[in-house]
Amino acid sequence: MELLPLLDHTSSESLYSQLYRHIRREIEAGRLAAGSKLPSVRKLASHLGISRTPVEAAYQQLLAEGYAESRPRSGITIRPSEPDLERRSPAPLLLSTGNDGVSARSLSGTGSFPSAPLKQPDIAIDFTYGDVDLNHFPFSLWKRLLGSCFLPEHRDLFRYGDPLGEPGFREAVADYAYRARAVVCPPERIVVGAGTHHSVEQICRLLQNTPYSPEATPFAVEGAISNGIASIVRLHGYRLVPLALEPDGIRIEDLYDSGARLVYTTPSHQFPHGMVMSVGKRRRLLNWAAETGGLIVEDDYDGEFRYAGLPIPSLQGLDTASSVIYMGTFSRALAPAFRLSYTALPPALAEFARAALHPFDRLASPLHQKTLELFMTQGYMQRHIRKMRSVYQRKLAALTSAVKHRLEPHFRLIGGSAGLHVLLEAADGPDEEQLIRLAGEAGVRVYPTSVYRIGDDPEIPSCTVLLGFGGLGESQIEDGIGRLANAWIPGR
Ligand SMILES: Cc1ncc(COP(=O)(O)O)c(C=O)c1O
Repeated sequence: MELLPLLDHTSSESLYSQLYRHIRREIEAGRLAAGSKLPSVRKLASHLGISRTPVEAAYQQLLAEGYAESRPRSGITIRPSEPDLERRSPAPLLLSTGNDGVSARSLSGTGSFPSAPLKQPDIAIDFTYGDVDLNHFPFSLWKRLLGSCFLPEHRDLFRYGDPLGEPGFREAVADYAYRARAVVCPPERIVVGAGTHHSVEQICRLLQNTPYSPEATPFAVEGAISNGIASIVRLHGYRLVPLALEPDGIRIEDLYDSGARLVYTTPSHQFPHGMVMSVGKRRRLLNWAAETGGLIVEDDYDGEFRYAGLPIPSLQGLDTASSVIYMGTFSRALAPAFRLSYTALPPALAEFARAALHPFDRLASPLHQKTLELFMTQGYMQRHIRKMRSVYQRKLAALTSAVKHRLEPHFRLIGGSAGLHVLLEAADGPDEEQLIRLAGEAGVRVYPTSVYRIGDDPEIPSCTVLLGFGGLGESQIEDGIGRLANAWIPGR
């Protein structure tokens, strides 16, 4: 097999990225057939006259995205691709229009979302999920940009604003989503929300009186999902159908069997288990939607933070049948307090979004929208993400190394290639409840994962806990893992 990429050593694009994109193109064009073997790293590096590092990195990226697989003794081979998506017109959504799209469903008795307990004084290290590192937040720049909104010509920013989001912000978001996450969506089809949970709410309301309403279909979901999101979807009347999780994402056969026409997924970084949906599976999922008229809700909550290569592009960017509703949030990339998220809608839903969304949907402050618009359009967002990626990468390296030295082989680290959280699974011995109690006694807070399970047998004990690391310093992470080792592995 010949691989002859024209690598441009003067380009600002790294050699590994050029090589990865070249091989990916060859696979997608069918010039590298399924089952064919990639040359060894050493051979290709010497053939191209470059070091092994970019070749290794390109191969890792192809493996992570599911274009190739690594088998013992056979090296790296190209995975079979799924049949190409049928090119077809947008799914026949048969949507009703008009204000009756919003039902007057009562929201009383909702309960509240389970959230991290307040920090207690006897907890020295809290591996809470959802914290970001604020030591690197550009406070003075943000203050300056926010301050520039306090001018008479920006009077409109002090009103309720547009229910779909401020036009300038939606434009900046469409551009950002394309550049950062390969989401293809014009600003007119972007709807701004006050955090993903609000975006899910908006989507549920948009789907009322459509073939995707709770009366028409159950909602298929990954076998473990955010409990907040599960609550919202249930509150809107949907029955959740869990789909088994495999190392490369949901089992697509389960989706066909479920009879659902609506599915929620976190393909770039499954929450909470951390796997990435392979390209083959992404294609099969899109095929399912094309064949059944199904609709996919993609939650891309931390896709900006992938450490072992390039970010995994969104599922939405691969979709040719307008069957993906994409949700992005600024809670991880920036900070949760801004409460800003966005949804990229397929054309048929976007058409009646304005009519279906209620004035009470205007929850995202126009002032924050404007500040973030300025932050993005002046090029600060890209810089910030680049910086935060390396900050979080260092934290994850500290965590991985501490786990390796202090907890293995008694514990296994899961999901350590992306995002701001990992899971720790006990090989045997204590269950989740005991792990949390022992950790608490040692001054460390870790979190349950059983709360995320959907439809699992509650009798099966979980022996996995969740650790967020975004808000902790490297020495705190090391201290925390050291304390956990002493608490969980007595005599060590
Ligand atoms: C699966 C998932 N999606 C999205 C989010 C982000 O939510 P929000 O945008 O409301 O902060 C979270 C974080 O809690 C999450 O776990």
